[in-house]
Amino acid sequence: MIHDNGSSNRSRNRSFEDVLRVRMSRRNVIARGTALSATGFLAAMTGNKLFAQGANTSTSQGTSNIVAQGSGMAIAQGKGSSLINFPPVPAAKGAEPVPSISSAYQFDVLIPWGTPIQPGGPTYDGNPNTRPTAAQQAQQVGIGHDGMWLFPIGNGNDHGMLALNNEFGSNTHVLGKEVPESLEDVRLSQHAHGVSVVEIKKVNGKWQTVRSANARRIHVNTPVTFSGPAANSKLLKTLKNNSPLGTVNNCANGKTPWGTYLTCEENFNGYFAATGAWTATEAQERYGFSKNGFGYGWEKFDPRFDLSNSSYTNEENRFGWVVEIDPMNGSQIPVKRTALGRIKHENAELVVGQGGRAVVYMGDDERFDYIYKFVSDSNWRSMQARGISPLDQGKLYVAKFNDDGTGNWLELTINNPVLKAKFADQAEVLTYTRMAADTVGATPMDRPEWIAAAPNGDVYCNLTNNTNRKEANAANPLAPNPYGHIIKWRDSNNHIGTTFEWDIFVLAKDTHAIERSAFGSPDGLWADPDGRLFIQTDGSQPTVNGVQLNDQMLVADTNTGEICRIFSGVTGCEVTGVTVTPDYKTMFINLQHPGDGNPMLTNFPAPQGSGKIPRDATIVITKKDGGIIGS
Ligand code: FEO
Ligand code: CA
Ligand code: CA
Repeated sequence: MIHDNGSSNRSRNRSFEDVLRVRMSRRNVIARGTALSATGFLAAMTGNKLFAQGANTSTSQGTSNIVAQGSGMAIAQGKGSSLINFPPVPAAKGAEPVPSISSAYQFDVLIPWGTPIQPGGPTYDGNPNTRPTAAQQAQQVGIGHDGMWLFPIGNGNDHGMLALNNEFGSNTHVLGKEVPESLEDVRLSQHAHGVSVVEIKKVNGKWQTVRSANARRIHVNTPVTFSGPAANSKLLKTLKNNSPLGTVNNCANGKTPWGTYLTCEENFNGYFAATGAWTATEAQERYGFSKNGFGYGWEKFDPRFDLSNSSYTNEENRFGWVVEIDPMNGSQIPVKRTALGRIKHENAELVVGQGGRAVVYMGDDERFDYIYKFVSDSNWRSMQARGISPLDQGKLYVAKFNDDGTGNWLELTINNPVLKAKFADQAEVLTYTRMAADTVGATPMDRPEWIAAAPNGDVYCNLTNNTNRKEANAANPLAPNPYGHIIKWRDSNNHIGTTFEWDIFVLAKDTHAIERSAFGSPDGLWADPDGRLFIQTDGSQPTVNGVQLNDQMLVADTNTGEICRIFSGVTGCEVTGVTVTPDYKTMFINLQHPGDGNPMLTNFPAPQGSGKIPRDATIVITKKDGGIIGS
């Protein structure tokens, strides 16, 4: 659906082919001399003072703010005009214990951790002397707000079902102590993780939860089911033969054209630990399992998470999947779609490719891990008409980025001879996807976070950072890479082909000289239909004008390369998750782990100085003039 106020400007996409030619020639040069950064090269190639002026900290709309490689040449040739027309959040506001937004915008707070799923239910308000009980938490919005999507009810501009990932909360934050002392403590922690589905509505100008037949909490102990090629594999069965339960570390998300929500299990390994003697298998090692895990201590009271309990061997293989949830049916059992592989899933960006096939782009967020793509066997509508989920039958690929700006999607099927030599069947390939990808020679990336597909066919991926990289390559050109970069590609055959052409969109370090653009550690990412890219950050941010910035959200104009800070989070938080109403005039984002849970740093969303424990929450953004978000 397109904006309804006539502001949607896709005409510039017509110049894409012209621009592509420019980029192609640039790529050849990059391949010859990787020492040049993307923007450095642009400056060199054009001899253009526009880029040489990049260090200008002016907040004007001048072209000196161009830092990314958009259709950059267009503006250099005077063809472009900016999609971004809002004043930036200045660096000075970017280090505060309260959020800041561009002066053209306003925000409200929605569903902080502890909000009852149904109005009137038990509430937790951040009182430092209490915590919810485990039973109360199971009726409340969880913690660790991350990926989410708004599913419209009516026209959706003032009413919908919001599905929200609750990625994680530290024991200190959730329990008020580092180590659980009882099963009740463990259950509270478990219930704080998972997914919250709430019905929200704008009432008297303010979004709030309303009573709902389909609102629900899905957490670590909720019944789930498996589907696809690995569903009946022995690798997903335990000696105990316990039914599959739960989802955990729900990072980012996706949504399908048939109206369902995809939640992605990321750092699941950290919830498992060993109470007794245990030696990691090759697969457990590849997925990062360790004797002590992340220190959640679940294994002490819940044997399902005890790696040394042989009754539950393989329980860990039940996590690391993309899980499909129907937000409009509160009694649907969430389905783990094994055809999409088992990795530390960041998000699952689903686009409809050539022939109506469902194509899902996915990043595996670990240093030196990979970017994946799933392509359904045929048209998603015809598959559904035959009673087959488009996410159950298809091919999984992993990306290889060649230094010359081309790339290949390498097939991860048991028919691939190198995989047939090492894996028993497709179920094993999918359960140990990382090892299959190692085998076919995928390109190790600098921590692939969110992937966003723009309507013009370009696909972007945030590579958040990689301080361990010692050897650069064209696709990961910085070693080490403390601030990350954004890569883009375009697949052959409208998303379903096995080749692609890629380029660097921006190196985060190249934004640091420009106050309004400076960022590091790109994580959340969303492309709007006009050509704007919303970039959210998590982790190391630059110091600008003496100010160490908080995590933030910026808007990039992919046509001009301009980048501008629209929102700044609070001390110690991460900004993540993005969804919009169908008219693009309300945006929802999340503040995750404000103050890292420490009330000495921030009391958000309670008033600063209140002493309340900071709580993860959704931020509702509108433009004061009622315009499209990002304009
Ligand atoms: Fe949950 Fe990679 O962020
Ligand atoms: Ca993330
Ligand atoms: Ca991150």
